[in-house]
Amino acid sequence: MSGLTSSKHNTKTEPKIGKKKLYIQSYGCQMNFSDSEVVASILKKEGYSTTKNSSEADLILLNTCSIREKAEQTVRKRIKDFKKNKEKNSNVIIGVLGCMAERLKSKFIEEEKLVDLIIGPDAYRDLPKLINETMDGRKAVNVILSKEETYEDINPVRLNSNGVTAFVSIMRGCDNMCSFCVVPFTRGRERSRNPKSILQEIDQLNKTGYKEITLLGQNVDSYLWFGGGPKKDFLKTPIEQITEKLDFADLLNTIAQEYPKIRIRFSTSNPQDMKDKVLETIALHRNICNYIHLPVQSGSSKILKLMNRGHTREWYLDRIKSIKKHIPSCGISSDFITGFCDETEQDHQLTLSLMEIVKYNFSYMFYYSERPNTFAQRQLSDNIPEKVKKRRLQEIIDLQQKHSLFRNQLNIGKTHEVLIEGISKKSNKHFYGRTTDNTVVVFAKRKFSIGDFVDVEIKKCTSATLIGEIV
Ligand code: SAH
Ligand code: F3S
Repeated sequence: MSGLTSSKHNTKTEPKIGKKKLYIQSYGCQMNFSDSEVVASILKKEGYSTTKNSSEADLILLNTCSIREKAEQTVRKRIKDFKKNKEKNSNVIIGVLGCMAERLKSKFIEEEKLVDLIIGPDAYRDLPKLINETMDGRKAVNVILSKEETYEDINPVRLNSNGVTAFVSIMRGCDNMCSFCVVPFTRGRERSRNPKSILQEIDQLNKTGYKEITLLGQNVDSYLWFGGGPKKDFLKTPIEQITEKLDFADLLNTIAQEYPKIRIRFSTSNPQDMKDKVLETIALHRNICNYIHLPVQSGSSKILKLMNRGHTREWYLDRIKSIKKHIPSCGISSDFITGFCDETEQDHQLTLSLMEIVKYNFSYMFYYSERPNTFAQRQLSDNIPEKVKKRRLQEIIDLQQKHSLFRNQLNIGKTHEVLIEGISKKSNKHFYGRTTDNTVVVFAKRKFSIGDFVDVEIKKCTSATLIGEIV
């Protein structure tokens, strides 16, 4: 679940009820964007309608990301922008949600005086109460992590929606403890959402015209419904007490069968947990997209061990082989970190050589940013100079660009089914959409509409986009 971005939401498609106005901005991974939709739903019941203009808001919420230091700096800068809102209206409440709230807790209020409210990812049901507390001029904090919370009964208010594609969260937290990663600390233990409530949410989306869903979790292959509670408890539960059991492949199978017209995507897959059963399920159903985001981080088994990734280079390449065997045309993308602790030039070359073998469709690439309290910060030395981290990053970015162009060029002359998602940013005479393998295609509109499936013949491409014509 990468694609780290930031967005203000669009008011056009949102309900306008109540007198109080909420401005909510999300940073970081798709899970944060999905959580903001849960938060908007909780606050809708309290009479808040959403606005994209912060100056008319009674409540300003930032859903924050802690994954790298830069992400945190961006949020701190953004908070300073709201000084003028407070000066104009001293009653405006400024709240911080998400991973920074969880990581920094009440310390954040001490550091950022403009902030009135701090609330962690598992405490959003408590927002109305916390807002009330701040009305008395107090500061309010709830950062309690839960072993059960999945917000399964909350029907998200779709923010910034194109009315065609939507996120559906299927699990929360992560138990993997990659040594560089702050997520297990900010989002707590892994737990799966009741499949009944997942299906209800998809049913609602289907009825309101949505055509594509992306199932979200930090580690979707680890999804396991056994009646609720932390995944770790499953192993401790006596077999006779487990009356129901559904893994990720079962869930995919059920959704694909029940909703044959809905396109299904998911993110993120983890190499150590990705089973052939999932690949067989994808191959079996036309409506499950042929695309897998399978982050590798490094091509060196030595570095992977230091990262506590739970897989080696060989294991990872075996997974790639298995994907290609089951789904020959599958699009594959990855995440990389350069300059992790003790990474030598030889380790870096191993990353480049792994990229040459896989030739990913695209990747999200970062240089290592040490995060407080992670294993790497406590036990390993962040000993690669920033200049070297950045140079290695540039090398993998350049190679990825070559591979993206190579992958895209293979499509020229071919015809793909594309779901129309919106109007091209560069020209209002063109639509954009995605192929099953998650490549963006731009084409002239003709008589079609957003939400239609069309067959597009690919005429040319760049490393980022395919350009075609509807046939
Ligand atoms: N399993 C998650 C991973 C979330 S973090 C998912 O759903 O995608 C997304 C990516 O950020 C990771 O795959 C990793 O490449 C990068 N990342 C995480 N911690 C980092 C750190 N400390 N420094 C640099 N990049 C990091
Ligand atoms: Fe982070 Fe590793 Fe989980 S990257 S989110 S600890 S799979």
